[in-house]
Amino acid sequence: MLSVVEEVSAVREAVARARKSDKTIAFVPTMGALHAGHSKLVECARGECGFVVVSIFVNPTQFGPSEDFARYPRALSDDCLVCERAKADLVFTPRVETIYPHTSAGAYVEVPALSATLEGASRPGHFRGVATVVLKLLEIVRPDRLYLGEKDYQQLLVVRRMVEEFQVSVEVRSVPTVREPDGLAMSSRNRYLDADQRQAARVLSRALAQARESVRSGEKDADRIRQVLRAAIQCERLATLDYAEVADAATLEPLKELGGGSRAVALLAVRIGGTRLIDNAVLTE
Ligand code: PAJ
Repeated sequence: MLSVVEEVSAVREAVARARKSDKTIAFVPTMGALHAGHSKLVECARGECGFVVVSIFVNPTQFGPSEDFARYPRALSDDCLVCERAKADLVFTPRVETIYPHTSAGAYVEVPALSATLEGASRPGHFRGVATVVLKLLEIVRPDRLYLGEKDYQQLLVVRRMVEEFQVSVEVRSVPTVREPDGLAMSSRNRYLDADQRQAARVLSRALAQARESVRSGEKDADRIRQVLRAAIQCERLATLDYAEVADAATLEPLKELGGGSRAVALLAVRIGGTRLIDNAVLTE
């Protein structure tokens, strides 16, 4: 039976009970508006752990002043159904004052090593907000395993690095991106797209597929692969490119050339109307 709780004490009690019966604790942090990508995280957690906690919290500190915090979709009762179907045990829906008891600027965690580029450059303060809320939630739930999606590739690296740096006792597990049948990566923000924009949004996965194809046919020059990405995005009238990068998959340093021992990842951020979408694909294994 799924429980839904707002209080830290209720989370701690439920987790303590599960631990007493020797269950491994999984944690899936989310901002709600849950879709099949989130479900996949919960199902992976369910497959590997005895007790699955999902948090639903639209975290104000990771949104910039001109971003979509106020209009971010909130759908708690639907979200609880998704969690129930994916067989979560506990949903934690804290109030903002619970997570930020003093002010939202009371204390922050920064991971400068991986936060300056890409999403970090386009969204100043974003990863500071993410790292801060994830550390706060980890400290409340104290899970054995933390489940994150590869869809937010830079976020995954930032959180992994934070966990390493602070020696947080949790194993970070990553889950491959779940896509719509036409390739669009599932995202809560896809709900903002009208029908034409939804069609146009296919351009992200198409661009990444073209980049992978050029790598498969022997392209190693990172600039030429960036050009493939940019050209694909430019073909879509409704799309405006924010960035198209080919980077080292571990450090996010821009690459000159593929090969040479490090894995490469292509990362995209594109605006379609007022909606900003991101996607990525590993180019070399
Ligand atoms: P949110 O965007 O709700 O995503 C929650 C988790 O679901 C993240 O780990 C994200 O990478 C994963 N996810 C989203 N779309 C996915 C998809 N199509 N396939 C697989 N996984 C997907 O990311 C956040 O919330 C927040 O930044 C959070 C980590 C909760 C901190 O506030």
